[in-house]
Amino acid sequence: MNSDQWDARYRDARTASGDSLWVAEAPLRFQQVLADVPPGSALDLATGDGRTALWLAGVGWDTTAVDFSGEALVTARTRAAERGANVHWIQGDVTDWEPGRTFDLVTIGYLHLPREAMAAVLKRAAGWLADGGRLLVLGHDVRNVDVGAPGPRDPGVLYTPEILREAVGEVLVILECETVERDGSADAEVPDAPAHVALDTLLHAQKD
Ligand SMILES: C[S@@+](CC[C@H](N)C(=O)[O-])C[C@H]1O[C@@H](n2cnc3c(N)ncnc32)[C@H](O)[C@@H]1O
Repeated sequence: MNSDQWDARYRDARTASGDSLWVAEAPLRFQQVLADVPPGSALDLATGDGRTALWLAGVGWDTTAVDFSGEALVTARTRAAERGANVHWIQGDVTDWEPGRTFDLVTIGYLHLPREAMAAVLKRAAGWLADGGRLLVLGHDVRNVDVGAPGPRDPGVLYTPEILREAVGEVLVILECETVERDGSADAEVPDAPAHVALDTLLHAQKD
């Protein structure tokens, strides 16, 4: 989907419910993996309405967040103002945006692009890590389709551990790369999702 289509989705969600497409809480996996990591500088790519960026800022990360949907960022800024959170919001296309600096952490949650474009984004994100910096990626696993949980259905944009590992395995140390279960009743992506178990792919990698 292009930025106009994403804009329409975020705008429609705001009109319909006064809120957003996604739940307000950051993915539980991100919270668990980062629980013992001391905060530094963070970049949340394809931040949407900023649920991960807002959580990161709330636990002490100096956070920058990028999305190409201006409408998503309207919701993100509103949420930040409500919470008194300080996030540097940037409207940009992750396939060509350049930060011009490094970060201690780059997070990517549920960004699903065609395989080559996704691999290119992952490689670029790996290149923006400071020494010791971490890349955390979470998205729908291709096997999610088989379990019937919500999410994209096109296998060409879905993750497998092999795809994520191959994209960054030569430049980063892989700490974790696997298919993980997500309990949709405690850790849904969309509000009011029916109870379900979803399958995500998690990548946690570090620059030496
Ligand atoms: C499924 S949402 C996930 C949002 C957020 N990461 C989360 O976990 O709630 C995917 C997001 O990716 C953004 N996106 C898709 N392609 C993009 C691109 N090329 N550049 C920047 N953002 C993009 C969309 O605007 C949308 O907000």
